[in-house]
Amino acid sequence: MTEPLVLGIETSCDETAVGIVRGRTLLANVIASSVEEHARFGGVVPEVASRAHLEAMQSIITQALQTSKVKLSDIDAVAVTAGPGLVGALLVGVSAANGLALALDKPLYGVNHLASHVAVDLLTHDAAPRPTIALLVSGGHSSILQVNDITSDITSLGQTIDDAAGEAFDKIARLLKLGFPGGPLIDKTAREGNRDAINFPRGLTQSKDLVEHEFDFSFSGLKTAVSRYLQATPDFVRADVAASFQEAVVDVLLQKSIKACKETGIDSLVIAGGVAANSRLRDVALERCAAAQIELRTPPPALCTDNGAMVAALGSLAISSGRPASALGIEAASSISPSIPIWA
Ligand code: KG4
Ligand code: ZN
Repeated sequence: MTEPLVLGIETSCDETAVGIVRGRTLLANVIASSVEEHARFGGVVPEVASRAHLEAMQSIITQALQTSKVKLSDIDAVAVTAGPGLVGALLVGVSAANGLALALDKPLYGVNHLASHVAVDLLTHDAAPRPTIALLVSGGHSSILQVNDITSDITSLGQTIDDAAGEAFDKIARLLKLGFPGGPLIDKTAREGNRDAINFPRGLTQSKDLVEHEFDFSFSGLKTAVSRYLQATPDFVRADVAASFQEAVVDVLLQKSIKACKETGIDSLVIAGGVAANSRLRDVALERCAAAQIELRTPPPALCTDNGAMVAALGSLAISSGRPASALGIEAASSISPSIPIWA
């Protein structure tokens, strides 16, 4: 049998994205973003995002089909992000996917956004060793996961107890008046700065914190420290603050991920999610994983931030692993545990 042709739809936040894969081969990855409509508010406005998804959906599906040179009737299965995310935004993608699956009489796979961030790695790298540790860092989530099987067996070892890593980047970018979304702007600004200029705190890394929060993250203390530093230092150097803040985040994320690898005896790490596009995180991960003899996988930056290819990739893996399809008429869910990769 030829490998399944899967169309994946992602609308959990401000990207309307459609990806098409055949097996593990990427054929199309088309994205429309409403980010500019949100920028003046300094964050994503759910109603604006939902309306933008509705306006973009049809043309993004058409463009993805054209790019991959396949007909809608050739599609073997439809995959869609069922959650977590903004529920009104998710509903647009889920409704489109339900309609497509019904009209084409093909199976529908409702996938977990978090698991699909990790699954996208399989489009560009060999099959990940099982099990693997995954550091998942995005605008809404920051977790360390033990992935035994990406379609059926994921356990969370730790997560943020306050802000997500991407959220911290976005908030600090706002304090520095860099714009939104902040991650890429801090990444760029930090290249001109001295990352050792300011020693910002590394949350939940003291031995007393490790008892209860060994693999958890906290970025609220760091945000407060940056804010206090800016107030107390009127002539601060923006690039130095960006670089020192970024270094604190990268240091904590990698300290804990590598510790998770060592303590579980798993010598493989995947870094995924929007923040995995960060150039400093990628560089330091390479160094530290080499030193610890851990095999490192990071999807290309364009596949780290939200996209439809990751949704199609997880749908395709679900089919090849023989997972049952989701029920037609599935609903969107604002929160789904990472331990449920495919939504029944
Ligand atoms: O995974 P994603 O596209 O959406 C969510 O699922 O949340 O992640 C978006 C987050 C944003 O907070 C954005 O600022 C951050 O990823 N991000 C970055 C970079 N590119 C995107 N953070 C740090 N450095 C980057 N280069
Ligand atoms: Zn995401």
